[in-house]
Amino acid sequence: MLAGEQGEVVERLFRLLVRLGDIYGAGKMIPVGSVQVAGVSYKSIGDPGMEFLEDFAAKGARVKTLTYLNPAGMDMEDWKEYGFPEDFASHQIRIMEAFRKMGVVVTATCTPYLAGNLPRFGEHIAWSESSAVSFSNSVIGARTNREGGPSALAAAICGVTPNYGLHQDENRKPDVVVKVDTDLNFNSDFGALGYHVGKQVKNKIPYFIGLPKDSNTDQLKALGAAMAASGAVALYHAEGLTPEAYLMDVSGLEPIEVGKKELAATYEKLNTGSIPDIVILGCPHASLREIASLAEKLDGKALKSPIWICTSRVMKVAAQKMGFVEIIEKAGGKVVADTCMVVSPIEEMGYKTTGVNSGKAGNYLPGFCQQNVVFQDVDELIRRLSA
Ligand code: F3S
Repeated sequence: MLAGEQGEVVERLFRLLVRLGDIYGAGKMIPVGSVQVAGVSYKSIGDPGMEFLEDFAAKGARVKTLTYLNPAGMDMEDWKEYGFPEDFASHQIRIMEAFRKMGVVVTATCTPYLAGNLPRFGEHIAWSESSAVSFSNSVIGARTNREGGPSALAAAICGVTPNYGLHQDENRKPDVVVKVDTDLNFNSDFGALGYHVGKQVKNKIPYFIGLPKDSNTDQLKALGAAMAASGAVALYHAEGLTPEAYLMDVSGLEPIEVGKKELAATYEKLNTGSIPDIVILGCPHASLREIASLAEKLDGKALKSPIWICTSRVMKVAAQKMGFVEIIEKAGGKVVADTCMVVSPIEEMGYKTTGVNSGKAGNYLPGFCQQNVVFQDVDELIRRLSA
């Protein structure tokens, strides 16, 4: 590859991987089972990113492994109906077309593991989006560093990644114990907990004790997403819940305690508004269980302001078949695929205060989208939209 025998693009991208490997002291390259590439929304990469991708596609670059995309800037099918600007759309379509030419699966989601890209325990992968990295490392036990857009694309086109960081056993040990001593009743409570812990531990690896034994995968994805956003946590362990936890020795680690008081303070901090113009759920992208639950809550209701739930195209199609989309739309909501509230231009669509149940969205919306935030559980958000 370095000799240019597989073309100019492979040579350039492999050189990037070698450089990364040198910086981090990797001894070798390892094959990756799948890739997830960030830097997809036109809002994030603009004209330079779009032209760079089109250039690679025109030069014949092709991925060597299963490769998915992070959310795009809009719903790729129903963007007109949802009011996304024409000019923005035409650029976003060009970006997706460049990825398609390179053989990338143009399913744009931060939950690829719910949409047909599911790694196995211990598999080496190269994923970019921080919540997907956290979920795959922590809940599935796959192995990935948090790749930048270019290094993930390089891994996809070369089929390998340098062996360092979280690919190696010795770097997956916990640095800090988090003792949770409070009830976690809603998915938003997991988001608040994650937001608080991420702020405390930054990029360390926490080991949780005291999470509810019946925490489900939606709650674990909410926890990991918030920790990755407020800190830079790419891997966590949770006693009795995550697959590597039982292998870890936590004796001698200093514990952090989190109780009711810390959770209440986090809600207070994340709430900068009170009545939302719009509620956007599905950060990270909603599972079918979350869409079904929203449909049940909205059945027969008429909302005064819109509610969106963001998800992958695969989940949206399943939700359509089950009739959930119809129920949500009748109440005044939308199931929006391929995008999310942070990477879509909601501030240009007239929204100023957004309601969310996600600690990650609560962390990013003020800065990325100039939004006031109402951070609450789904029932309370619906109540405020109906008031
Ligand atoms: Fe996914 Fe967007 Fe949230 S990428 S994790 S829905 S900010």
